[in-house]
Amino acid sequence: MQGRHLVSGLALALVLLPAQAVEGDAAAAKAKISMCIGCHGIDGYRTSFPEVYSVPKLGGQHPEYLVRALQAYKAGERSHPTMQGIAAGLSEQDMADLAAYYGAAR
Ligand code: HEC
Repeated sequence: MQGRHLVSGLALALVLLPAQAVEGDAAAAKAKISMCIGCHGIDGYRTSFPEVYSVPKLGGQHPEYLVRALQAYKAGERSHPTMQGIAAGLSEQDMADLAAYYGAAR
């Protein structure tokens, strides 16, 4: 079952990544991705707008990497005006949920 899979995955993540305090909830992210899909697309598909400069595909990336990337934008360690603006409005829980969602997408 998907539920058990998720639980064992989280347990593994807790063993491997003790620094990540907030658990992501992919289902909760469904209400939050509306502000991402315009650029990143749905379920990891790249947007087809050629004028949007190299928007990375998020689907299938490691959730911890995605959280770190969002934290880095928020902290100003990684600079990109749009993503810094987006990340500034995200809580740790938002980031974890979004990372869980996109990390499970293909
Ligand atoms: C206006 C367009 C736009 C929107 C809206 C947007 N992004 Fe981005 N995002 C980008 C671009 C462009 C980059 C690449 C920036 C760079 O080069 O650092 C990026 C980079 C990222 C990265 C780093 C990916 C990597 O491979 O390193 C993450 C994670 C990310 N976005 C998550 C999100 C999430 C989550 C949302 C919604 C809450 C969101 N983005 C909304 C355009 C957008």
